Amino acid sequence: MALLFLSMPERAAVWQPLFEAAGVEMIVGEAAVTDPAAITHLVCWVPPQDLRRYPNLQVVISTGAGVDHMPPMPEGVQLARTLAPGIEEMVRDWVVMATLMLHREMPIYLGQQREGRWQNRPVPLARGTRVGIMGMGRIGQLAAETLRGMGFDVAGWSRSGRAVAGVEVFGATGMEDFLARSEILICLLPLTAETRGLMDASFFAKLPQGAKLVHAGRGAQLDMAALKEALDAGQLASAMLDVTDPEPLPEDHWAWDDPRIVITPHVAASTDAREGAQHALAVVRASREGTEIPGLVDQTRGY
Ligand code: GLV
Repeated sequence: MALLFLSMPERAAVWQPLFEAAGVEMIVGEAAVTDPAAITHLVCWVPPQDLRRYPNLQVVISTGAGVDHMPPMPEGVQLARTLAPGIEEMVRDWVVMATLMLHREMPIYLGQQREGRWQNRPVPLARGTRVGIMGMGRIGQLAAETLRGMGFDVAGWSRSGRAVAGVEVFGATGMEDFLARSEILICLLPLTAETRGLMDASFFAKLPQGAKLVHAGRGAQLDMAALKEALDAGQLASAMLDVTDPEPLPEDHWAWDDPRIVITPHVAASTDAREGAQHALAVVRASREGTEIPGLVDQTRGY
């Protein structure tokens, strides 16, 4: 079994000694492949065009948490996303920061600061403020736990509606009720055919008036024109976006200068090299032992 590594050289430098210590062959870069048949695992963000070059490929591992950028896998090739506690903790941190920033009206205060204006506004309590998290996977659950610990009244939404201890989770048919209670809405959903364009005008209309949006899912889930309309109409008060469509937004896009929006350049998480390597080694081990691949993606579902 050999793993072909197609990512950044500085990451390769961290991975190599860990693979050596584990006795797993790791090849860096396609140019270094002498026997394509030896490659059983491939780590990359975007895979090379022709995966059929590797006839014994078993698993492609995305270096990140998302896999929506991946092409369909050849027959028999499994797809995994990187499972790393650091990714989950980083996104949790970004989500908590963004939630607090919107809750405490930082977009308004940042605007006032730019104008040299000292003006207070009513100070809201976190306790009892209703937060809704769309996407109750590992990251959603971690964010829910922290926000609950701060006193927010947290509910979740997931397609399955699977129960999570201590959090009311709405399922597929509960979206309207979930939105109706979400004063701060957090999107952590994966991009799938179902979630593409999900956040549009009719979606925003179901939120309480003056709701706030925290978006760390994927840019293509958000209709930016509908966001602007909802902000202009007062249906939404503010938004914090770590993802946009396209990334980056064009230089002259209205959102750059909109004082109600804070944008970060898709930085909620970045896979820690050591944790990424440990996950990849666990995948190779699972392949060897015939056990469940950690982070295995259901390719029909898309996440
Ligand atoms: C980032 O968005 C990732 O998928 O890791």
